[in-house]
Amino acid sequence: MPAPLARLEQFATRSSRGATLADGRKVFLVCVHGKVSAFINRCPHQGVPLNLPDGDFLEPGGELIQCGMHGALFLPESGECVFGPCQGRFLESVALSIDAEGNIDLASE
Ligand code: FES
Repeated sequence: MPAPLARLEQFATRSSRGATLADGRKVFLVCVHGKVSAFINRCPHQGVPLNLPDGDFLEPGGELIQCGMHGALFLPESGECVFGPCQGRFLESVALSIDAEGNIDLASE
């Protein structure tokens, strides 16, 4: 059985992390107020990865996703950009499923 994308317990110490899908696409997962969501790691306006210099994806308050290059802010629930050059546009979300053991994977279609 392939390894899960992430495990729920991994978010106890760090609330965002990058991952690679089986098809090679880069994604990132964030956990805000106990809810985990995932997006393709590509900004809707320049198509570049969002990682902050330290590899995180959330602003220091841990509430919003932040573009490491421009400081644009995105809602973790929907991926909507609420501040910055791509305001009103959306990150591409990735549907997740979490099993009883805390394994996080892509939701099956
Ligand atoms: S690349 Fe689009 S906000 Fe930074």
